[in-house]
Amino acid sequence: MIESPRLRLRRQRPSDERDLIALDSDPDVMRYVGSPAGPRSPDETAERVRQRIHEEQGPLGFWVVESRGDGGFVGLCALIRMPTGDDIELAYRLARPTWGQGVATEAARALLEYAFCVVELPKVVAVTYPENRASQRVLEKLGFVPQGFVDYKGVHAAHYVITREAWK
Ligand SMILES: CC(C)(COP(=O)(O)OP(=O)(O)OC[C@H]1O[C@@H](n2cnc3c(N)ncnc32)[C@H](O)[C@@H]1OP(=O)(O)O)[C@@H](O)C(=O)NCCC(=O)NCCS
Repeated sequence: MIESPRLRLRRQRPSDERDLIALDSDPDVMRYVGSPAGPRSPDETAERVRQRIHEEQGPLGFWVVESRGDGGFVGLCALIRMPTGDDIELAYRLARPTWGQGVATEAARALLEYAFCVVELPKVVAVTYPENRASQRVLEKLGFVPQGFVDYKGVHAAHYVITREAWK
């Protein structure tokens, strides 16, 4: 469990399936998520959730973000291995009603603190669709540095990095 002033990040449970299906079915949320980007069917999301819960071991993976106040579902964030190489990627997506309140930055900050201070990763990377300015702004606020572009599963993606030294 990882906590921040307003949020709790915890591992996924089978009972999260309904909220995660709603999240991944929303075209606004999924506009810049996935390769190709776009909403996922309920069946596909349910299968992914089951797979992630089954596979999740060790210090990396996915966390459900929920409100510390009322336990309400906020979204999902993750530390996952990049498709090529050893780098670990920070990822997040939040339910539409929670946007614009600094929640992504707060959740990502808590997860980075965990990544650097508990897992002791030397660096964390992030990739976004070039048009996803909101996500890039989150990364900039956290101290990520733009590194140009990379091919990410066939997508031309903006590439960001933050090192443990820079975080400290
Ligand atoms: C991207 C996302 C995570 C941001 O969540 P959030 O909680 O609203 O983010 P924050 O409030 O912490 O910060 C957002 C910042 O982007 C800015 N922003 C929002 N929309 C913007 C836009 N269209 N252009 C430029 N900046 C924008 C906000 O003003 C804010 O910056 P500020 O604090 O300097 O004002 C959320 O919109 C989301 O889940 N989107 C769908 C999934 C997604 O795209 N995930 C990222 C994949 S790489």
